[in-house]
Amino acid sequence: MFLLAPSILGADFKHLEQQVCEAADAGAQYIHLDVMDGDFVPSISFGMPVIASLRSCTDKVFDVHMMVREPGRYIDAMKEAGADIISVHVEACTHLDRTVNQIKEAGLKAGVVLNPATPVDVLDCILDQVDMVLLMTVNPGFGGQKFIPYTLEKIRALREKCNMRGLSTDIEVDGGVTCDNVRELMEAGANVFVAGSAIFKGDVTANTKAFLKIFEEQ
Ligand code: DX5
Ligand code: ZN
Repeated sequence: MFLLAPSILGADFKHLEQQVCEAADAGAQYIHLDVMDGDFVPSISFGMPVIASLRSCTDKVFDVHMMVREPGRYIDAMKEAGADIISVHVEACTHLDRTVNQIKEAGLKAGVVLNPATPVDVLDCILDQVDMVLLMTVNPGFGGQKFIPYTLEKIRALREKCNMRGLSTDIEVDGGVTCDNVRELMEAGANVFVAGSAIFKGDVTANTKAFLKIFEEQ
């Protein structure tokens, strides 16, 4: 099943509630929440208070992408704020196995994230333990960047790895995803699609529906 995860980083924060509701009402299944610490990535975005406020607007799946060093420090607080899935970067966790277990023990779905230049083989030991792998298709930290083409091969390699192990792990892609390249990403093996600019720039309802229509056609 193909799922759409609008990233609120692309939204107009003056009208955040309205924009999230619009994407949700148009049929997006997830809401993607990009938490940045100004250390692991250059920018700072938002944290628990914003997520907790939005929690009362929608019951869609809250897909929290932690661009934070040592994110294990915030698992309980993120759960409290309303996270359903927490994804952590392998590059930001000294003890990745511990952090993944913390997420699962909190009763949440656990994802691991790879930067574009991190090879998928780094997942060999942890793959069976996670619900989702998020492959960055841009360097994390900012919305509105261009998709990095070599990441397509990583999606294929990861789907192949999952298939070989009999795993139906979700593969999420994040960065530069548009209606023009999403078919290629679907064919490569991704099934959860983050989109910031492609959803929130312009008509949110129409943009959301355009993605969902492509999903239905497959
Ligand atoms: C980037 C974030 C993305 C970002 C995607 O670091 O992880 O989720 O919002 O934005 P677009 O879709 O505009 O590339
Ligand atoms: Zn993200």
